[in-house]
Amino acid sequence: MKKLIFATNNKHKVEEVRAALQGVVQIVTLEEAGLHGEIPETADTLQGNALQKAQWVWDRTHTPCFADDTGLEVEALGGAPGVYSARYAGEHCSFDDNIDKLLAALDGKENRRACFRTVICLLPENRCFEGRVDGQILTERHSNGEGFGYDPVFMPDRFAVSFAEMPLEVKNRISHRGLAVKQLVEYLKANQ
Ligand code: IMP
Repeated sequence: MKKLIFATNNKHKVEEVRAALQGVVQIVTLEEAGLHGEIPETADTLQGNALQKAQWVWDRTHTPCFADDTGLEVEALGGAPGVYSARYAGEHCSFDDNIDKLLAALDGKENRRACFRTVICLLPENRCFEGRVDGQILTERHSNGEGFGYDPVFMPDRFAVSFAEMPLEVKNRISHRGLAVKQLVEYLKANQ
């Protein structure tokens, strides 16, 4: 089976993508590909970062590969934290620090519309796939302990619960990353 390196060591992401691509391609993580060290992520767009990460892998392996980048874009904050979602409250901050900063920034604001966007870039085809989910930022955390990141304060449209209150299968079906992965899977199946 054809090998495809996924530029991540995040177990949850790998599991999700492996499940969707079973029997189509063999997904290899960075570690399994013997790639160590920090991949630069210095672009100022999601697509730029995804491409930069995939290019880093391609340059070292010349093996087909893809990378993803995700951001939370909040309307009332002009699209912030966006590409800086992971380090919104500063370098090495926790998910909780980021949520605290976001809730403070939206305090008193009526417009709480937001979306998550994921961009996946596939090399050497140089194809990008985007998934997006719209919703709103809640005024406080709602969680059953599911999820990560901003999940406790993000409620997708047409649902009455936050991402952190949903079973993972439901979130994966409707989420930004799930939708981007779905497009990648369709492309790979059609172009084997
Ligand atoms: P990454 O590009 O997938 O590493 O995502 C960047 C940052 O966006 C993460 O550190 C999280 O803070 C946030 N994020 C990404 N995906 C999700 C999600 O599904 N739920 C909540 N937060 C997310």
